[in-house]
Amino acid sequence: MLRRLHPEQPESFAFTPANQEWAQAQISKYPEGRQASAIIPLLWRAQEQEGWLTRPAIEHVAEMLGMAYIRALEVATFYFMFQLQPVGSVANIQICGTTSCMICGAEDLVGVCQDLIAAKPHTLSADGKFSWEEVECLGACANAPMAQIGKDYYENLTAERLREIIAELAAGKVPVPGPQNGRYASEPAGEPTTLKDHVEGRDAHNASVRLALDIGDTVKRIDGTEVPILTPWIKPAEPTAAEGEPQQPEPGAGLPADETGITVEEAPAEAKARPEATEPAKAADRASGAGVKPVTLSSPRPDQREDLTLLDGIGPDEQAALNALGVWHLDQIAAWTPEELEWVDANLQGFGGRATRDGWVAVAKAKLAAEKIDEDKG
Ligand code: FES
Repeated sequence: MLRRLHPEQPESFAFTPANQEWAQAQISKYPEGRQASAIIPLLWRAQEQEGWLTRPAIEHVAEMLGMAYIRALEVATFYFMFQLQPVGSVANIQICGTTSCMICGAEDLVGVCQDLIAAKPHTLSADGKFSWEEVECLGACANAPMAQIGKDYYENLTAERLREIIAELAAGKVPVPGPQNGRYASEPAGEPTTLKDHVEGRDAHNASVRLALDIGDTVKRIDGTEVPILTPWIKPAEPTAAEGEPQQPEPGAGLPADETGITVEEAPAEAKARPEATEPAKAADRASGAGVKPVTLSSPRPDQREDLTLLDGIGPDEQAALNALGVWHLDQIAAWTPEELEWVDANLQGFGGRATRDGWVAVAKAKLAAEKIDEDKG
């Protein structure tokens, strides 16, 4: 299908103030020089605001990101999720036309849209309230045939039920999404044959329908005020370095960072000699207190959770304090240098000095050595 800009375009585009703030926040997630990475969320936001993606909106986003217009146009025309023509002011109805839905009656649903909205897809109804299109599988095949209307799925549809839904939407109502034939979710039609214990006392709606009802934005256009902007790094930060001292990049979760501030992943334990923090990271850590902060992890390595209380001198409380610092594994403790040990002792909440006094590094090394011997024997 040829995807071109619509011949009729509005004069201009501007984000609402809240959407503008949201867009700036998204751009701030990417390093300097990589702002173009925000192209898809910004184009999507423009579409969410207006209903479709206009040429002025594409150009506006391109300007915000310092991109050539043609680059933004390439993205907008490549992805079918971007609507390049006006859509219904109430809803654009997306009928799934892939195998499961097709053999369960999708053609009848298309027939309803042709009858009630317009003979051809991507065409406005006479009153401008609706448009429709056929789309590829939307991943709800177990509830075929289905349609996405606005942000939600309407499943197990019949032609008759779709007619009713369109009539309700035209009257300003928003029908409850989800299965339309009495099914709760995607269990067998009729009674569930497994997990029967979960039927009694459950919510009247399955989780996704419940969420849709709670949020209530099925066919609502968004203006940017709906959710908080979760980019705390662009709020004015409390000064952490001494007055006049140059600010250094902050590595995520205590991991070392490269010169652009991007966190450098820790090498696998067996492959690494000693992960080296970069100079900026070390400088930042030194500025924060005694010693040098060791490499820490935001969570244990997958499938490697270790019980540090097996070490002499470490009980559940000490383990919790270590975990809070980002220390989860014996090899982390065994690798501490004297400077790092000093930092741990200074920062271990409630147990200052214990790491040195109880010789945790030596104990951890001994434990690892013993495990290695056992492994070799095994
Ligand atoms: S075939 Fe229609 S949702 Fe998958």
